[in-house]
Amino acid sequence: MKRIVSGIKPTGSLTLGNYLGAIKQFVKLQKERKNDEFFLFIADLHAITTRQVPHELRKRTLDVAAMYLACGLDKERTTLFIQSEIHEHAELGYILQSNVYMGELERMTQYKDKNDKNDTSITSSLFTYPALMAADILLYDADYVPVGDDQKQHLELTRDIAARFNNYYSNFFKVPEPLIPEVGARIMDLQNPDKKMSKSENNPKGYITLFDDEKTITKKIKSAKTDSLGVINYDPVNQKGLANLINIFASVTDLSINEIVNKYKNVGYKIFKEDLAKKLVDVLIPIQEKYHEIIKSNELHEILNKGREIANRYANLKMKKCKRKVGLGRK
Ligand code: TYM
Repeated sequence: MKRIVSGIKPTGSLTLGNYLGAIKQFVKLQKERKNDEFFLFIADLHAITTRQVPHELRKRTLDVAAMYLACGLDKERTTLFIQSEIHEHAELGYILQSNVYMGELERMTQYKDKNDKNDTSITSSLFTYPALMAADILLYDADYVPVGDDQKQHLELTRDIAARFNNYYSNFFKVPEPLIPEVGARIMDLQNPDKKMSKSENNPKGYITLFDDEKTITKKIKSAKTDSLGVINYDPVNQKGLANLINIFASVTDLSINEIVNKYKNVGYKIFKEDLAKKLVDVLIPIQEKYHEIIKSNELHEILNKGREIANRYANLKMKKCKRKVGLGRK
């Protein structure tokens, strides 16, 4: 039996990138790996590394929890919990900060991007964020961590931190493996295909949220930036915008890139985009319907309470052992 651990930050609305890069993969893994355990959480401590409005953060935390389930995760097989409800994440995060170097944190793209923009509002927690993320994973002895491509660097650092700790204190943390999907790992902005699709900073026309209605989805896909070549072809260098749409199509339908190119090569972008918008609507609208049912029900709180109880048991035990290993406290 393997343990699979992953999390999502409740900042802004979830995007199609979060769905195709992460949640869809969780659901698929859960169907394929019947004997494995799934620990999935809402990373609200990570969210406050940038300023959040408290009541909005609380609402989005529940929204993400409901969306995990609406997208098809099995509540019986998922330990679903809120990161801040398990205080050991922050506690281990601190210990791991003492096992990671400034130089390593400075190399993280997420931090570098902000720093390069001379953003003076970078908090110290944004800088040390990868140590907390490592704690999220190592606390539960994760075997696998399914994430989108943008989190690969954080996973590599997590592995380095675990190995360094094990090397100094003797074997203690399991060194986890990232799981990155073959398609859908990097969904790009619809207006600027050089940038990752993200809810923060980008133009709203550039991203689709999991809450967009049919009209909005169709409009955003129709106005997605392509090129003047006008031929359906998969060329991520010269036809970046189109390649991104083909990737989205492949990820949403589970068709291969070749099958899509062959199917549409003799029609223009217009028909291809109309079909893609329909496929997205067919996937996203039922998810929204389920989300509305779940968010209204009391069951969500029951699931989160149960998740908290299970996660707490693991985290508590691991943390006790960790403190002993490091020499903290009296015994
Ligand atoms: P977050 O909240 O930014 O994103 C959640 C997941 O969605 C994936 N993702 C994408 N995949 C493809 N294309 C995109 N445009 C796209 N945008 C986002 C991300 O790769 C991620 O898998 N630090 C993490 C949350 C986290 C975490 C963890 C994840 C905290 N602790 C422990 C795994 C394990 C983050 O900010 O993800």
